[in-house]
Amino acid sequence: MDKMKIAFFDSRKYDIESFENMNKEYGFTLKFFEDHLSADTLPLAKGYDAVCLFVNDPVRKDMVDGLLDAGVKLIALRCAGYNNIDLQAVYGKIHVVRVPAYSPYAVAEHAAALILTLNRKTHKSYIRTKDNNFTIGGFKGFDLYGKTAGVIGTGKIGRIMCGILKGFGMRVLAFDSYKDEKAAAEIGFEYADIDTIYRESDIITLHCPLTPETEYLINADSISKMKPEVMLINTSRGKLINTKDLIEALKQKRVGYAGLDVYEEESDYFFEDYSDSVIDDDILARLLTFPNVLITAHQAFFTKEALENIARTTMDNIKKYFEEGVLPNEICYRCGQGTSSCSKIKTGRCF
Ligand code: NAI
Repeated sequence: MDKMKIAFFDSRKYDIESFENMNKEYGFTLKFFEDHLSADTLPLAKGYDAVCLFVNDPVRKDMVDGLLDAGVKLIALRCAGYNNIDLQAVYGKIHVVRVPAYSPYAVAEHAAALILTLNRKTHKSYIRTKDNNFTIGGFKGFDLYGKTAGVIGTGKIGRIMCGILKGFGMRVLAFDSYKDEKAAAEIGFEYADIDTIYRESDIITLHCPLTPETEYLINADSISKMKPEVMLINTSRGKLINTKDLIEALKQKRVGYAGLDVYEEESDYFFEDYSDSVIDDDILARLLTFPNVLITAHQAFFTKEALENIARTTMDNIKKYFEEGVLPNEICYRCGQGTSSCSKIKTGRCF
């Protein structure tokens, strides 16, 4: 069999290092492009068997035929989320696989880091002491112990987050469309309806996927049901929060803190260096002005262990499809957008 040819889009130095290292075991031909996949860059995929994409590489309806014409047979996402792919448009044409879990610990631990940093302002005290200023005014936080946290989405990441928050001695309420009562009993959190979460939580952290149902879950209406000065944490997907509504709520001090690893219009900015440029996005620019908003640029996943797992699962996904015709990590429109309930996913191919 000829060597499989894979085109990577949105490739960074760390992607190249970890995939080239992993490829010693697989022997594929890898080509790394820095550009995002887009209608303009799509011709770069010509002659490749698979494209390997990240969170901000879209595959829209108008791009599917172009990918087919280029000879692409597989879209291998090197991430868990798949809201950037029009699954309905690719269904029946190109298979899509993902890395369902690479390190849920990495993401949950980063969410916890956002909480601790926002609360105790260690990011600011670092700068102050570097300047020989050893005052502590303005750094007053609150004990997490005894407070209530609301976790929305108790999948792989959300469950770990519940455990971390329990470790702080918090009361943990959770909301999910599918309750995992066994996990709740083992970890010690309790399920509640969404309005109870809004009403009672001091900290709300989002761990559900972006779907039509969850888009703008956090908006003016839901914020109005929350405790004044609530802390909002989002390490899932930017569009779970209506950012304009969040900005209003921050201005009115309805929201006391926001820790965001994702932003609804992040694709133009995140993973890029704009330190010498003017930010054209007024909403992002406004968000960055708030002293109680901490933005990280989609780095929650970014640990050594996660990168290794991403490379291993992605290469396995590609190998299994081209050499054995099976797709253990397929996501597809017909199967319910990535739930693992489809028997065909388990046995092999979805279409
Ligand atoms: P998962 O699939 O294990 O869990 C998601 C949970 O959300 C499931 O239990 C599901 O039932 C629940 N859910 C779905 N719709 C819901 C709704 N309307 N309301 C409440 N719960 C709902 O996914 P996992 O691995 O825990 O990841 C969660 C999200 O984290 C991903 O969708 C992705 O967007 C994000 N993520 C972010 C990363 C980062 O670097 N910032 C890295 C990896 C994932």
